Amino acid sequence: MMKRVLVSGGAGYIGSHVTVELLQAGYDVVVADNLSNCDLTCFEGVKKITGRNDIPFEKIDCCERDAVDRLFSEFRIDAVIHFAAFKAVGESVAEPLKYYRNNLLSFLNILEAASAHGGCNVLFSSSATVYGETDRLPVTEESPRQPATSPYGNTKQMCEDILRDTVMATAAYGTEVMSGLDKPGPVKGISLRYFNPIGAHPSALIGELPRGVPNNLVPYITQTAIGKRECLSIFGNDYPTQDGTCLRDYIDVVDLAKAHVAAVSRMTDGRMEDGYEIFNIGTGRPVSVLELVNTFEKVNNIKLNYRFAPRRAGDITAIWADPAKAEKKLGWKAQRTVEETLASAWAWEKHLAGK
Ligand code: UD1
Repeated sequence: MMKRVLVSGGAGYIGSHVTVELLQAGYDVVVADNLSNCDLTCFEGVKKITGRNDIPFEKIDCCERDAVDRLFSEFRIDAVIHFAAFKAVGESVAEPLKYYRNNLLSFLNILEAASAHGGCNVLFSSSATVYGETDRLPVTEESPRQPATSPYGNTKQMCEDILRDTVMATAAYGTEVMSGLDKPGPVKGISLRYFNPIGAHPSALIGELPRGVPNNLVPYITQTAIGKRECLSIFGNDYPTQDGTCLRDYIDVVDLAKAHVAAVSRMTDGRMEDGYEIFNIGTGRPVSVLELVNTFEKVNNIKLNYRFAPRRAGDITAIWADPAKAEKKLGWKAQRTVEETLASAWAWEKHLAGK
């Protein structure tokens, strides 16, 4: 029987790319999304890319326990990938309760329903933000987490811990996940800690759709290039790095999506070595903000209007992944070059502009 994956937040940026890769790998997918931070553009793109018009779409808010329960009663679900969460760092500082309520409650509901219906495999969408500032680079999964610097980051840490504790507690229900049953079962879990996801699908039919002024670097670059923004501010050129700008590990969104397929199959095929596992998902290559900007200009043959501006509060100097564990255990490794990724980000921006 085909395995079925529930993708909460599946109409969003990363969720839509993951849905494509899951379908292409032979999984059935149920997309659940409340469309609070996106419209159906990417879901329509997913249907076009995969040629599938039969993907179930459930417009639900995972903060509603009954709605989540209904999903688990209606579908036999072998794994959940939980993306449904707010993700703006600055907004989370201004409105912490909104972030704690939404990001924690939705995940609690997913976990309770998952366990109540015979158990389930749960993949949590975590972030490199849990590592905070460290000078021991690259970071491995064993690197200590630092106290979170924003409520957003705190929800990532808390959800990781909630998943770990749920796995431990529900192990009492046995080892075999018997999804769809009407009795409690074990939850198995994986947290994927993403570094900086960027880029778009090579078809240019799905990509990032930020609402309002983008916070993140690449959408700001593409919107400046297309003329929606006047000038990119590079936040800080006095960091202790080779060119003075921050270093990050930019991971292509299609590569990232493939890591989810690898993690889901590890869970559903019973290949986990522990009930709860953590993987870094990055390239292992640090790239500076200036290098990224220069590469964008070069591959797309565009002159980008940018200026150096003061440091942004809360930014760390440098972080990049040691992705060795993901390669060894998931058999996953980033494939696309940063050039290909930045070309895809630009193709997507042009697609949005109808060019
Ligand atoms: C942030 C979050 C991270 C989250 C990620 C994706 C923190 C500390 N960071 O990462 O958790 O997963 O977004 O949403 O919680 N930059 C500019 N000009 C701009 C925008 C950014 O110079 O207009 C620079 C930043 O200073 C930084 C780099 O670009 O050095 C990347 O910034 P951004 O894309 O916002 O990601 P992070 O802050 O690394």
